[in-house]
Amino acid sequence: EKYKIAVFVGSLRKGSYNLKTAKALMALAPESLSLELVNIGDLPMFNEDLEDTPPKEWTALREKIHAADGLLFLTPEYNRSVPGVLKNAIDVGSRPYGQNAWDGKPGAVVSVSIGDISGFGANHHLRQSLTFVNVPTMAQPEAYIGNAGELFDENGNLTNDSTKEFLRSFMEAFEKWVKTHVKK
Ligand code: FNR
Repeated sequence: EKYKIAVFVGSLRKGSYNLKTAKALMALAPESLSLELVNIGDLPMFNEDLEDTPPKEWTALREKIHAADGLLFLTPEYNRSVPGVLKNAIDVGSRPYGQNAWDGKPGAVVSVSIGDISGFGANHHLRQSLTFVNVPTMAQPEAYIGNAGELFDENGNLTNDSTKEFLRSFMEAFEKWVKTHVKK
């Protein structure tokens, strides 16, 4: 059986290390997981006044979440927290009230930073929101990818072997998590 995993990247820049890490994870993932990047860069900012006539991008995001069996979040740390673009996606997916698309979908968080605190603050702020929107989020292994500027070659390929092995085992654990918690 295949499990559809929606992948959310909290950085919009072309050269994003979070995006590079997401691509590495997609390449290392076990066969049973089918990962797809979900674009959150063009989502209008959440505004409750628009709920009766939701922007098409909101509807498209909500449908992608509904279609997914699992959720994988990659987040940079902006000022010790989650970038607005990712928080906005969580907010959009959680509404209208009573129709939280995230509800019950197993998830995991990876934080990626060029610094050596490895996005710890963003990782845990993201977990706080995911708890509230009822995403059972894998607790262990945690994934803090620091010093990301040193892990990839000029073509964006992950060249650090220990990081590669870690990410492989992370995805194996996530596969088990998804299988155990997938919404029936
Ligand atoms: C950062 N960066 C950063 N890094 C960190 O470890 N802790 C932080 O609090 C911040 N704060 C922060 C704020 C803003 C507005 C920016 C633009 C950047 C640096 C950040 O880790 C770096 O830009 C990464 O390269 C971002 O991830 P992507 O874009 O490479 O995926």
